[in-house]
Amino acid sequence: MDGTQIKPTAVNLVLLGPPGAGKGTQARKLEEAFDLKQLSTGDLLRAAVAAGTEAGLAAKAVMERGDLVSDDIVIAILRDRLSDDDCAGGVIFDGFPRTTVQAGALDELMSETGQTITAAISLEVDDAAMIERISGRYTCSACGEGYHDSFKTPAKEGVCDNCGGSDFKRRADDNAETVAQRLKAYHADTAPLIAYYADQQVLQGVDAMQPIDAVENDLKAIVQTALA
Ligand code: AP5
Repeated sequence: MDGTQIKPTAVNLVLLGPPGAGKGTQARKLEEAFDLKQLSTGDLLRAAVAAGTEAGLAAKAVMERGDLVSDDIVIAILRDRLSDDDCAGGVIFDGFPRTTVQAGALDELMSETGQTITAAISLEVDDAAMIERISGRYTCSACGEGYHDSFKTPAKEGVCDNCGGSDFKRRADDNAETVAQRLKAYHADTAPLIAYYADQQVLQGVDAMQPIDAVENDLKAIVQTALA
């Protein structure tokens, strides 16, 4: 041994699951624990809408209906973000890919940089429970930490555990009608990716009906195995 450090290949994870499955909640925990970068196409699109960019203007009405934004727009936004330096150490894809076209594009983007998808993790949940999770969801306006009226409340009422902020917001598309359409879009376009990643032999399933901490432990075990 000459003492040379061999940099481990980056760990790249895809989190699959319907709205409310816990993709964002768990991506943030994995980001902190393993120094990976969370890339949420939902967050990137909401930022584009807020900034009034061309992509944002095209996406706004589609998101409000609960439909999927076009592959071209989402892939372009993702490609831009993925080229940033902070993604080089490994990425948690949260809400991407959502169609087989997007999954093919991600495979190409990964191979361009000599990387692969380490694991695609399907967060397995019941649709009925997702309505309850989403209708109770809110986030800290300052840092984005996620909460829920019943399942995850701040330790001190009205104060964010993470940053001490006191302003919270709820998403415009978190209403019953839009959530039903988002679930429909998931089953029609995204659920087929479970078979796509099973074929690539990188699929892992996690019971995401468990409490948040138990889901976190299962996910961390998968990442630790990948890093070993
Ligand atoms: P996006 O922002 O990705 O929303 P989503 O997929 O509908 O997912 P959510 O953010 O609603 O849920 P989540 O799984 O992250 O759950 P969370 O952790 O918050 O997309 C929004 C829209 O953007 C789409 O509809 C589409 O129009 C567009 N879009 C985005 N990406 C796209 C793409 N690739 N292609 C095309 N269009 C795209 O948890 C929910 C709540 O439950 C929280 O309150 C949390 O505290 C709680 N919770 C979490 N886990 C648990 C648990 N185990 N037990 C109890 N409560 C829990």
